[in-house]
Amino acid sequence: MTKITLISGSTFGKTEDFAEDIAKFLKKNNFKLKIFHGVNFSKLSNKGLWLIITSTYGLGDVPENLKNFLKILKKEKPCLKKIMFGAIGIGNSEYDTFCGAIKKFNHYLLLCGAKRIGKVLEIDITKNFCLMEYSKPWIKKWIKEIIV
Ligand SMILES: Cc1cc2nc3c(=O)[nH]c(=O)nc-3n(C[C@H](O)[C@H](O)[C@H](O)COP(=O)(O)O)c2cc1C
Repeated sequence: MTKITLISGSTFGKTEDFAEDIAKFLKKNNFKLKIFHGVNFSKLSNKGLWLIITSTYGLGDVPENLKNFLKILKKEKPCLKKIMFGAIGIGNSEYDTFCGAIKKFNHYLLLCGAKRIGKVLEIDITKNFCLMEYSKPWIKKWIKEIIV
């Protein structure tokens, strides 16, 4: 059974709820999950499959509960060659820094040697009211790619 470490970053809770919905869907599809709503890098194993889901705050900033994680990626550049990851961002397209947080994670994870599975999904909350419905096709495709 494939194990996924699901990591959410949220300021007001919307992304955390969305991550829980994704977790339910993945569990129904027989994946084993470890869930972190906000995480310090030290809690994560340096091998495996991560699904990172984060909103953006400030001007393109990462939510407070993922700041330590991004800081370590930027400053310490840990070797993440044994990590595969999926990336989903939630944001508001009225900001020039639309989905800035997931863009940063994608950038630094790749720099650290992690391999991304699928494209980065960026969800605009001004256009998509049901996050789960909008993202289902992406998740289904991602599942197929990780079990190949
Ligand atoms: C003060 C503030 C700053 C924000 N900055 C950005 C931003 O720079 N880029 C973006 O795409 N969305 C931005 N957003 C929109 C949030 O990402 C969006 O509302 C999201 O749904 C919040 O999710 P959360 O409840 O999980 O924190 C901002 C929202 C607020 C209230």
